[in-house]
Parts: sequence; structure tokens; C-alpha cells
Amino acid sequence: MPTLRELPEGLLVAQNRQSLAAGAAEWIKFELEEVLDLQPICRLLLAGGQTPRALYALLALEPEIEWSRCELWWGDERCVPPDHADSNFRMVNETLLQPLAARGQVPARVERWRTELGPEEAAAHYDRELRTIALVHETAPQFDIAILGMGADGHTASLFPQTPALDERERLAVVNTLRGGQGTRLTVTWPIIEAAQNVVVLVAGADKHSTLAAALHGPINVLKMPIQMLLDDAFDSDAEVTWFLDEDAAQSLSDLTQLNRL
Ligand code: 6PG
Repeated sequence: MPTLRELPEGLLVAQNRQSLAAGAAEWIKFELEEVLDLQPICRLLLAGGQTPRALYALLALEPEIEWSRCELWWGDERCVPPDHADSNFRMVNETLLQPLAARGQVPARVERWRTELGPEEAAAHYDRELRTIALVHETAPQFDIAILGMGADGHTASLFPQTPALDERERLAVVNTLRGGQGTRLTVTWPIIEAAQNVVVLVAGADKHSTLAAALHGPINVLKMPIQMLLDDAFDSDAEVTWFLDEDAAQSLSDLTQLNRL
């Protein structure tokens, strides 16, 4: 395990993006093996974007992981074909699925968002598929490991500030309309994240520092900064939340012990 400076409340800081990925990969591998010691299948909810690329590439190299007992789902997706440069499925396919296939390893289930159905039907289809997973919580199926990122505006998955999906508590998967005409995204909703057993948040880069500091230091306002849901008493979850940060994103967070919330 690379050297990680541990801050209170599950905040782990790595020197750089690569050691963040290495630390998260080791943590996820350990957790995944723990889950498979107790149950036949381990369900992972994957994050999109760029930060997880190095993590998925490292997980693909882990020979001990029993991928045939792992299900891969996506926390969100862009409304593009699965081979589009912006597709989160394509990113995971490149970094994880294809390297595994080259070694003859196939996950038990790879459930991508069927964006070819169009946004509304893709969301309805994902909602239906999510409901085929046994409901652990009365409202949502349980993912063993949910991997999330954070945008510089404080979004996570495709739960963006001041967007309708933030208030969705019935449907598990929806189309979310971004503000300012920035188009639409597909995303799971809070019940899915709340039902997770483990939530892993990956935040890297100096461009995230001020948002991360505001999220951890400042008053809670989930509408303005959705990532703060993970810190809010309203987060109706038993999930263990672990944050993997790099030094660029963490910068002056070492005074967390003075925070009134951590
Ligand atoms: C997406 C992600 C999104 C991502 C953040 C951070 O589809 O883009 O699911 O929530 O995690 O935007 O993205 P980076 O890792 O690229 O900074």
C-alpha cells in the first residue's frame, strides 16, 4: 500500500494521482475479497470521468480478483453511444474489460446504460434492471462497493447542483437535465448511493481543492454542492464512506481536526 496520510473520518491522502489509484485499488481489492468470503457475488457501481481510469487499469492487473463473481454497474452515463469518446462505458471497457478479456476473464455481469434506447427509455431500462437485484433496503438494491468522483462544481455521479435528480427518491435511475443548457445525463439517484455498503470517493487535482475544502469545511448545502450529501445527517445510510484524495486536491485540509463537523 503506497504511503497515505490518514486524516480523520476516512479521508486518505496520496502523494499523487497514481498513488491515489494504487491505494484505492488495494482498498477495493481487499474489500471485494471480504465480500466474496461472505456472499457469492460482489456488486460494484463504477464512476465515470477521468480520475478512475488509473484505478480500473490497476484492478485489471490484480490476478487474485474473481471477476466471474463480480457484477459491474455504472453510477452514471452520458447520452452517447457506448463507443463514443465521452462514454463512461467505453472508458471502463478500455481500462478494465478489454484487459480482462485478453486474459479470458469475464465479469459475472456487465450492466451498461443502454443509451441506444434514448435517454428516457435508457433510464427506465436501468431502473428495471436495478430492481432485479434483491432489495436489501426496502427502497433500493445494495451495491457492495460504490465508487464516486467529484466534479469541480461539487457534483457526484450525474447529480449536479440545482438539478431535478437531486430530489428524486422513488426512481433509482433517471435522466437529469443540467443547468445552462449543458444537456442531459443519466444517473442513479440517492437511494442507490445510500443503500451501498461501501462508498469510495476519488478526488484528485488542484482544480478540486476549493470545492473539496468548501464541502468539508463549509455549511451543508446539498442542492448547491451534492457531494455534501455524504457528509449530511440526512444521508440515510449505513455505508462506510472512504475518501481517496491526492495532495493537490487535499492541500490545506490537514486542519480537519479543527472542523466542527469531522
Ligand atoms: C462522469 C462522472 C462524474 C465524475 C466527476 C469527476 O460521468 O463524469 O461520473 O461524476 O466522477 O465529474 O470527473 P473527473 O474524474 O474526470 O474529474
